[in-house]
Order: sequence, then structure tokens, then C-alpha cells
Amino acid sequence: MDKLLIRGGHRLAGEIEIAGAKNAALPILCAGLLSAETVKLSNVPRLQDVATMQKLLRQMGLAIEDKGNVLELCGRAVDKLEAPYELVKTMRASILVLGPLLARFGEAKVSLPGGCAIGSRPVDQHIKGLQAMGAEIQIEAGYIHAKAKRLKGARIVTDMITVTGTENLMMAAVLADGVTVLENAAREPEVTDLANLLVAMGAQIEGIGSDRVTVTGVPALHGATHRVIADRIETGTFLCAVAATGGDVILKGARADLLDAVLDKLRETGAVLTSGDDWIRIQMSGRPKSVSFRTTEYPGFPTDMQAQLMALNAIAEGSSRVSETIFENRFMHVQELNRLGASIEIDSHTAVIHGVGKLVGAPVMATDLRASASLVIAGLAAEGETLIDRIYHLDRGYDRMEVKLSAVGADIQRIR
Ligand code: EPU
Repeated sequence: MDKLLIRGGHRLAGEIEIAGAKNAALPILCAGLLSAETVKLSNVPRLQDVATMQKLLRQMGLAIEDKGNVLELCGRAVDKLEAPYELVKTMRASILVLGPLLARFGEAKVSLPGGCAIGSRPVDQHIKGLQAMGAEIQIEAGYIHAKAKRLKGARIVTDMITVTGTENLMMAAVLADGVTVLENAAREPEVTDLANLLVAMGAQIEGIGSDRVTVTGVPALHGATHRVIADRIETGTFLCAVAATGGDVILKGARADLLDAVLDKLRETGAVLTSGDDWIRIQMSGRPKSVSFRTTEYPGFPTDMQAQLMALNAIAEGSSRVSETIFENRFMHVQELNRLGASIEIDSHTAVIHGVGKLVGAPVMATDLRASASLVIAGLAAEGETLIDRIYHLDRGYDRMEVKLSAVGADIQRIR
């Protein structure tokens, strides 16, 4: 198992290229199942999760021509309408094949994803929405068996805002008979990116980017070309790394307009941020100031950035409170940050962080994707050596993070 060895205390300076968004690429790849024609994607990030999704889709018969960051998908020969447990258990986003398969082929068998490290994460809203569209759904031996001759448009109000739930139902609705209204829809930029691709494929969708999305079903979708949006979470992660170590870095390809809540908090810490259409520059000097925040759905502060900004709070001047409202168990980085000398207590869904003057390197363990990223940030800021174990979590969602960080002056290496 690979590990990362970090010798902390180096100032970061230079340029980092931001990759395409993982959480946009995953649903967008599944949208390839919706058409018999070719969908050409660019700016696809090279990540473990994207590789897992490709493996799953290929098993179903989706042809994928892999040209690095460009992928060409062709759904002409899709004939195996099943997502097996072996793949779903390694990547929950596999549930995103359910809507497209059911919509185009009238049938799907998808393993129920289990719980995961950050919470129980049920998929009841995906199922409820598809049932409202007329699908017959049975849960048997750990699998969701779904059938529908042709899905019918419906008004669906989800109990909570769900990102992949909205994406699954939107992909189901584009080929349904009639009009589907998704109320309480997720407004995350990744949902918008998927909707834009679907429109390019001939779907009729109104209210894109709002909490009420109206989809008028069409008989078939055609091919399209699409560029995946920049990864706002990778961007935010590097911004926190620079803020934690001091420095001056330009993130190329980054979209400031998708990161308002995070940029506001970083300004409060004392970072100087400037940006253009496709770049963000961060300059930081001196010790950061503590910032309190709570995670909420977009456009609020993203849960996927909670751990990284907490790492910054760990070394900041003053105390802060961080509340997690999206997932029930997303504080696993706290124990590991405390191993590096942080002073963080958990009180139910809130972490109370007392900033310390310095962290000291130690061996730590990555527990999930964003927790791993927070340990990297803490390790970069700490005195001495930090060895991070189980970085396969990191590789699921970051494209060669250690290479990008080394190029701007970090002392970080992968140990195989
Ligand atoms: N929920 C239900 N029932 C459902 C669906 C969701 O109870 O049917 C609950 C969840 O358990 C959670 C809340 O609703 O408490 C929100 O979950 P959501 O469905 O929005 O999360 P997701 O779609 O499973 C996506 C991202 C996550 C990100 C969340 C929140 C992808 C592939 N994953 O997950 O990304 O944290 O939205 O923004 O888009 C990550 O990249 O590290 C990551 C975990």
C-alpha cells in the first residue's frame, strides 16, 4: 500500500493546474449510457474513481476510447444492465447507472451501496423518485431490481437535498414520457454540468442550477461534446495548503465563481485572493486567523472542504467552531490531526478547534478522501516528518497530488 512522506515547513510558490471535477465526471460518464451515439468528453480527471467507473461501464457494454483526459463513449452495444456488488462497494457513485439504464432499457439491477466511513448514506430518495416515475422496484439479496416499460414524468419532492439523487432522477427523466419536476433539487455546480451535457445531447431541461428542475422527456438522445468543469474541491484543497504554509500560488483552470463560500472564509483567515475567469491566485503571509463555519448545500460551505479548512484552523490564531450538517460521521480526521499536535474536541456535530502554534509530524492514517487531504495539509505545515498511510483514499479523488505539490516547493514523496 502506498504512503506519502511529507517533510513540513516549506513555503509553496508557483503554479498548479486544476483538473476536471471528479463529482462532475462520474455522473457525466454514466450519461454515456443514455445514447447510442458518441459522447466526447474532455478535461476528464485521471483518478481511481474515474477508472473504477470506466470499468463498470465497460462491463455493461459501453465502448470507451481512452485518450488521457479525453474520453469517447459509445452506448450502442450496451446490453448488460447490472452493477455488481464488487464495484459498487468500492465506489458509491456506481448508483448513478440506475437512472440511465432504467430510462433507456426499462430495466436495471444495481447493488445497494452499503454504509461508508462518513455516514450511512442511504439511497432511498433515488428509489422513491424512480417509483414516482412508475418504476417497479424490488430489493432482493442486496440488489435493487428496477423495471419500467417507459418511465413517466412526475413531480418529485425529495425529503432532503441530494446531489447524486438529483443527478440520477434527472438522467431518468430525460427519456421519460412527459414532464418531470424535481423539487428541492441540488444546485451543486456538478449537477449543472451534467444538465448542460444532457441538453447538448438533446434533452429538454429548464431551471438548470436552481432548486426546481423541469425535464420534458424526449424519445432519444444524440451524441455530444462536452468539457468537464474544473474541480472546485481540488482547487479549495490547494488553497488551504498554501494558506497553511504561507506562499504565493496561482491555480490555473480554477473557477472562483464556484467557490464563493470557501474564498470568503479564506479571506477571513488573512489570505489575499485575486482571480480571473479561469485562475485564482492566493498569497498568504503570517499565521492564519481562525474561522468558524458550518457545512451546507451549495452555494453554502461544502462538506467536501470541511476537513481541509479544519486543518488550517488547527494552526490558526484563536479558536473556531466547525459544524457538519450533511454527513453524520465526517470528523474522522480529528483524531489524526490531534496526533499531529492539534487541539480539537468534538461535541456532537460540531468540532471545537483551539489553534496551536505548531504541529509536529507523526505517522497518521487516511480514513476517507477529504480526511486524507486534510492530513496532507497538516503535514505540509507541521515541523518534521509526517507519514500518511492508506493514501488509496487520496488517489480516488486527486490527480497526482504529490506531483503537483512538489512542483510548487513541497517536500512530499510517494513511498511504494
Ligand atoms: N441522503 C439520504 N437518502 C438519499 C440520498 C441522500 O438520506 O437517498 C442523505 C445522505 O445520507 C446525506 C445527505 O442526504 O446525509 C446528502 O447526501 P447526497 O446524496 O447529497 O450525497 P451524495 O450524492 O451521495 C455527493 C458527492 C459527495 C459529497 C456530497 C455532498 C458525488 C459522487 N459525491 O454525494 O462527495 O460529499 O454529494 O455534497 O457527487 C467526495 O467527493 O469526497 C464526496 C463524498
